[in-house]
Amino acid sequence: MKLLVKNVLPINGDGKTLCDVAVTNGIITAIGRAPEGFAPDDTVEGGGRLCMPALVNAHTHMYMSVLRGAADDLPFMQWLFEGVMPREDKMDVGQAYWGSLLSCVEMIRRGCCTFNDMHLFPGAAARAAQDIGMRAVVNRAVTGPDGGERRINEMLGEINEFKGCRNVYFMIAPHAIYTCSQEYLTKLADIAEELALPVHIHLSESVAEMNDCLRDHGCTPVEYLVKMGFFKNKTLAAHCVQLTETDILLLAEHGVSVAANPKSNLKLGNGIAPVYQLDKAGVNVCIGTDSAASNNSLNMFSEMNYTALLHKGTNGDPTVIPARKAFEMATVNGAKALCIDKLGRLEPGWKADLVLLDTDVPQMMPLRDLYAAVVYSCDGSETDTVIIDGRPVYLHKEFTTIDTEELYYNIRKIAEVI
Ligand code: NI
Repeated sequence: MKLLVKNVLPINGDGKTLCDVAVTNGIITAIGRAPEGFAPDDTVEGGGRLCMPALVNAHTHMYMSVLRGAADDLPFMQWLFEGVMPREDKMDVGQAYWGSLLSCVEMIRRGCCTFNDMHLFPGAAARAAQDIGMRAVVNRAVTGPDGGERRINEMLGEINEFKGCRNVYFMIAPHAIYTCSQEYLTKLADIAEELALPVHIHLSESVAEMNDCLRDHGCTPVEYLVKMGFFKNKTLAAHCVQLTETDILLLAEHGVSVAANPKSNLKLGNGIAPVYQLDKAGVNVCIGTDSAASNNSLNMFSEMNYTALLHKGTNGDPTVIPARKAFEMATVNGAKALCIDKLGRLEPGWKADLVLLDTDVPQMMPLRDLYAAVVYSCDGSETDTVIIDGRPVYLHKEFTTIDTEELYYNIRKIAEVI
């Protein structure tokens, strides 16, 4: 399958010269001019739009979009244990499918092609991603020891079910240190090692988690995991808001990636992750939205913008986290954290997950630094076309793979019962 994207401004180009992007079997083969004799099966007219690699949402909970607006302005533990969990208990896999598909639609319309979903219905998220044509990393959030064995068996069943599906990847995901015993965490790290899968965990998200860990284990959550040898696998830690200076050094030393979730952390009053300090220490920092139940949107443009601005403000220094750095956190760093090879750059040999942005809009005029335009001026509504794995999934603001009317009908129905 060959695709030619014509007349675009590559984000890593000079900002003036229009290029064509040639794609063969989901891989970028040329930027500039198509190779001699390149006969595309399909052509997308770029019309002078800006072309960038698609955004990577490194931490989310897909089906929870049906809980959007159900529990706002509550303290974190009350939000989780009273607002979210009782509603989740009522949900079935069919409802989770529609919730996941809603998340896919929202993300694609805002230039994001890959998500990392952690929660109860990974099969629903994988199915939704397959139907719409999105790249999915799915992981069942497991807790234990109570019911832990059953959850591990279900998790292994799901991995077997979707193993071999194109663009579906897996991680092993103990939910958090406060919902898993030490023995259970160790067991999951061993399973990840055996299956050669990376690990995804919520870590140091709130003051309560930090204080409880200091009380129960005499050390910080990061130190607790280091002591039990948990970081022997490639690990992605979500949040990492409450960190000591030693924690930052330990995360760097153990090669742990961190998914910052600026808007969710702010909305839940959990604070601001020390992204600048993590990055400076050599930690691979990427960005996630967390769920629409805590955010309440899944807009990676907005998260990128917050990431760049928050740390200038909190560090009192406008030179920290420049636009280009925030963009890398939202693209190539996310792919690295998810262990997806050659994703997140606009270069030959890299995966063809491409986003075309309108430039005929006031916030993009005049167009100077393209990274600054994307990070500081765009809100994601500029997204015109999205190509995933070399396939146009969203073409001139219309989905080519699914019926959004059917989706919205089902979401309204679900909202009536949950
Ligand atoms: Ni989360």
